[in-house]
Amino acid sequence: MKTLNVITSNEGKFKEYKEKLSKFYEVEMLNIDYPEIQADELEDVVEYALDDLKEHAPLIIDDSGLFVEKLKGFPGVYSSYVMRTLGCDGILRLLENYNLRKARFECVIGFIGEETKHFKGVSKGYITKKKQGTKGFGYDPIFRPEGREQTYAEMRTKEKNKISHRGRAMDGLLDYLKDL
Ligand code: IMP
Repeated sequence: MKTLNVITSNEGKFKEYKEKLSKFYEVEMLNIDYPEIQADELEDVVEYALDDLKEHAPLIIDDSGLFVEKLKGFPGVYSSYVMRTLGCDGILRLLENYNLRKARFECVIGFIGEETKHFKGVSKGYITKKKQGTKGFGYDPIFRPEGREQTYAEMRTKEKNKISHRGRAMDGLLDYLKDL
């Protein structure tokens, strides 16, 4: 079985990659620092980082963000900083006076194999009124995907992976890899 390195320090992300990709690959977590620029698009962050990581190929990296409609897409590309400073409670406070709570998660996977590729996945949903669930990571306790009653933090990894931004980006990656 071929090895695929997942470059991340986030155990939660790695668990999701492992759940979906380990049927096809020996999935290894590599916790290596890489340059993360502040850019307007997730794709640009991924593009820049990939340049520095080629020696670890075949590999994937992942840049993701939560985009809240009423907050004009905030925290978006600042999701990581906002999680460290305001956290889920801060987002709930910003939305205190709103009933319309549409949001989306985006994930861009950068892949280096024979070629360099990007795969994007989006999941639409809503910010809940309070935190629900203890599974997952990051903003999972306050994000309820469209058509579901539970937040991501109330779902098992396999269930989240079927509908999530990261799961969808992985579908794109697997689709590409199966044709090689
Ligand atoms: P990054 O891709 O690691 O920069 O993620 C940005 C921020 O979004 C971090 O604080 C992550 O915890 C959070 N995040 C990324 N993906 C997810 C997810 O699937 N669920 C919940 N939070 C996420």
